[in-house]
Order: sequence, then C-alpha cells, then structure tokens
Amino acid sequence: MTDTQSAKSVQALFQPFTVGNLSLANRVVMAPMTRQFSPEGVPGDNVAAYYRRRAENGVGLIVTEGTVINHPDASNQQNVPHIYGEASLKGWTNVVSEVHAAGGKIIPQIWHMGARGQVNDYTEEEIAELVRQFAHSAAEAKQAGFDGIELHGAHQYLIDQFFWDQTNARTDRYGGDLVGRTRFAVEVIEACREAVGPDFPIVFRFSQWKGSDYSAKLAHTPEELERFLKPLAEAGVDVLHCSTRRFWEPEFEGSDLNLAGWTKKLSGKPTITVGSVGLDREFTALFSDGKGAGVSNIDGLLERLGQNEFDLVAIGRALLADPAWARKVQNGLLDELVPFSPEVLQTLE
Ligand SMILES: Cc1cc2nc3c(=O)[nH]c(=O)nc-3n(C[C@H](O)[C@H](O)[C@H](O)COP(=O)(O)O)c2cc1C
Repeated sequence: MTDTQSAKSVQALFQPFTVGNLSLANRVVMAPMTRQFSPEGVPGDNVAAYYRRRAENGVGLIVTEGTVINHPDASNQQNVPHIYGEASLKGWTNVVSEVHAAGGKIIPQIWHMGARGQVNDYTEEEIAELVRQFAHSAAEAKQAGFDGIELHGAHQYLIDQFFWDQTNARTDRYGGDLVGRTRFAVEVIEACREAVGPDFPIVFRFSQWKGSDYSAKLAHTPEELERFLKPLAEAGVDVLHCSTRRFWEPEFEGSDLNLAGWTKKLSGKPTITVGSVGLDREFTALFSDGKGAGVSNIDGLLERLGQNEFDLVAIGRALLADPAWARKVQNGLLDELVPFSPEVLQTLE
C-alpha cells in the first residue's frame, strides 16, 4: 500500500457520524474499561482529567468504564464508580463538563455485575426492582449531561446471564428459548427508553463470548442472531456494540463479516466493532499471564470500515497506553504509537 492510499483509508476513521441526536466528530470510540479509581463509587478530578485527555486527543465518543446501578448485587469491587447517588452524580457531572469542554462526547456504561447466585434465584419482584434501577441510572445519566448511555449486556454479567442458556434455566417468561432469554434486556431497554425519552441515544453492548467460555455462542447462525437482535432493536436500542476479542474473525462460516458486520446487516442498526485494534494480542490474555501487547497496523480494520461493514470502532488498551492514539493515527504518526504495557493499569494517566 502506498502512503497516499494509506492516508486516504485512515480518513475512513475520521469521518463524522450521526445517529439520532448523537453527532460524533469521527468513528473512534474509547471502549469501556474498568479502572477502579473512584473511592466510594465517586469519580473525582483525576477521572475527569483521564477522560478529558482522550477527548482532547481526538476520540469521537468515550464510553466510560462500567458504572454500577443501585442494587446490593451490582458490584463486589471497591472503587468502581456508581451511577446513582448525589456524590457520584456530582462527580460524573464534572467528568462530562471536562470532556465537553475538550470537544468530546461521553456516555456511561451502565452495569450490574451479576446475580449473587443464579438469575434463577431472582423473583419477579426483584427483577422489577433491577429494571427500575437501570432506568433510574439512565435518567440520572441524562440529568448529569451525558450524551447517551450504554447498557452492559456482554461478558457474562447480569444482562448476559439472562441471555445465555448455561446461566439461565428459568422456565418463566424470563427464560426458555433465545427470544425468551432476551426478555429481561428488553424490559431494561424499554424502561431506560421511557426514562430518557425518544431522542436520547441508547447503545447496547453484547458478546457471544463469556468470561468462563470464550467459544460460547448465543447465536450459532445468522438466523439465530437475527432472532436475538430483533427484540432488542424493537425495544429502543439505537446502536449495537458488538464485543469481540479480535475484530478480524468471521462470525459465521461462509462470510468474512465479523459480529458487528452481521449485526449491522441483520438489525439495520449502526454498530461498533472492537477487539485488538492496533495491537497484536487480544485482551483477556492480560488477565491470565499479565503481559502486554505490541503495536500492529490497522490496514485490515480500515478496509472493513471503508466497506461500511460497521460504523464505529472501539479502542481499548491502545487508548490506555496512549491517550493520543487517535490524533497520531489521524496524522499518520504510526511510528509513534505506544505498545500496551500492563503497568499503565496501575495509574490513571
Ligand atoms: C482493563 C480493562 C478493563 C475492562 N473493563 C470493561 C468494562 O468495564 N466493561 C466492558 O464492557 N468491557 C471492559 N473491558 C473490555 C474492553 O471494553 C474491550 O472490549 C477489550 O479490551 C478489547 O478491546 P482492545 O483489544 O482494544 O483492548 C475491559 C478491558 C480492559 C483491558
């Protein structure tokens, strides 16, 4: 590839994008990454400065780290931020205004880490309370000035525990077949939509892979994926964020399309892809061997984006390693990109 071709294809990442009333300067999204720097669930000035640095350096949309709802099982980790309560919301209002001052857009990832036992243990009353708390946090996010919300429906956390047959053996309307298992998510999305109104963007993140089984699949065929996506789209989702560990992997046999590609095609909704963009190693290895990842080129990504396989591209570790990743890529400074070293997790730079 000549320099001119490569500069031209890089521009695919820096085209504006609009969905509903969410207008983004470009296609670069910061992936949600838990950092645990919010004592008592309250994000401080250091968190605001951390996100502002990414916005100043050209990230189009920031999805915050997972932020938990008000429910006894929602979090078992110290220093994970809340998305409820006066002090936390005050902290988030400050984060949002810093990011906006730098010209960026930001949405919180709303999270519940999972049932203390199994989702089968929740009674209908408790499910209704969970739905209410998701909606409450969505309303609080809007009030704090965020540009939308992302619901965390991936990675074997609560919403995904309802999706997956291995973690949902319910026989009532929240269980059963794949569509029955979307029921909880549908109620959460509908309640959030009701709480934020028709124009406030709702992104929904999901994954086939699970923390306990990387080869797990909710949908084994495009037909199953279509059945899974339809209720979510109808419930009021604007954008689907398709979490994979390697963006280049075809989701189903017989096509090169990845999960975000298939999801866009089948749902008609804009999609975000993610997984090892700009790096030579996928992210879960970090948690088993503690090792980092080297820089890799993004030609394959640019080719897919240029073909409109998906609309937006989430960047995780590369943006932890290098707050200026987007700016450097846009300016062709690929030699200056920084490899991902796990030490960056120790600080909030
Ligand atoms: C330190 C760390 C924390 C993460 N926390 C979250 C999280 O809170 N919510 C989530 O949906 N994904 C989380 N992820 C996954 C990322 O959003 C992303 O999908 C993953 O890192 C793959 O992107 P990458 O290869 O560009 O790093 C986390 C990843 C890392 C490395």
